[in-house]
Amino acid sequence: MKGIVLAGGLGTRLKPLTKITNKHLLPIYNKPMIYYPIQMLVDAGIEDIMIVTGGNHAGEFLRLLGNGHEFGLKRLHYTYQEGEGGIAEALGLTEEFADGDRVVVVLGDNILEHGIRRGVEAFRKQERGARIFLKEVEHPWEYGIAEIEEGRIRRIREKPKDSPSRLAVIGVYMYPPDVYEIVRGLKPSARGELEITDVNNAYLERGELEYEIVSGWWLDAG
Ligand code: G1P
Repeated sequence: MKGIVLAGGLGTRLKPLTKITNKHLLPIYNKPMIYYPIQMLVDAGIEDIMIVTGGNHAGEFLRLLGNGHEFGLKRLHYTYQEGEGGIAEALGLTEEFADGDRVVVVLGDNILEHGIRRGVEAFRKQERGARIFLKEVEHPWEYGIAEIEEGRIRRIREKPKDSPSRLAVIGVYMYPPDVYEIVRGLKPSARGELEITDVNNAYLERGELEYEIVSGWWLDAG
């Protein structure tokens, strides 16, 4: 199992803070934001980790994290996303790193009270398909939202204006190796990005999307 932390983007919602640095380097309590997702992966037993970043401050990640020794890692892997092509495009850049393994993808601004260890254990036992995590939110229009019927996800919509559901798809995604084929087949959305929600809906259509509701708090710090 490989770990991927997505830490690109321009962080426009956090301006002016993100004028001079990348969102994921801003402090959350006593650590830079990106420390939390890296630590979550390490705590879940994943030690082969790639950081995908982009924008004007990518070099700072190397200065801050180096080889990841602070996390007990031998090395960290990095790649660079040119432009603003979306979460799924960023994931597509990690295909050679994944090298046929399953991947756990974490958005660099997502923090969970109880981490992802149990989710990763469940995914290790899962025979096929992908796994996502849901959490009830107050502002469904700010997230990918899952509509559930009789215990099954009916569809996922990205930032819906009128959703009857409040179950957000949080920024932790677990995929089998064929995720890269799905990413290659995606078309840009109306906002010009390759959407992770489209990837999840592709697994849903195949009947290969498992989900669980996370316990404890969850924070999208972006
Ligand atoms: C992204 C995803 C969205 C998801 C959210 C979780 O949104 O597009 O589906 O619910 O992360 O943090 P963003 O925060 O990039 O707008």
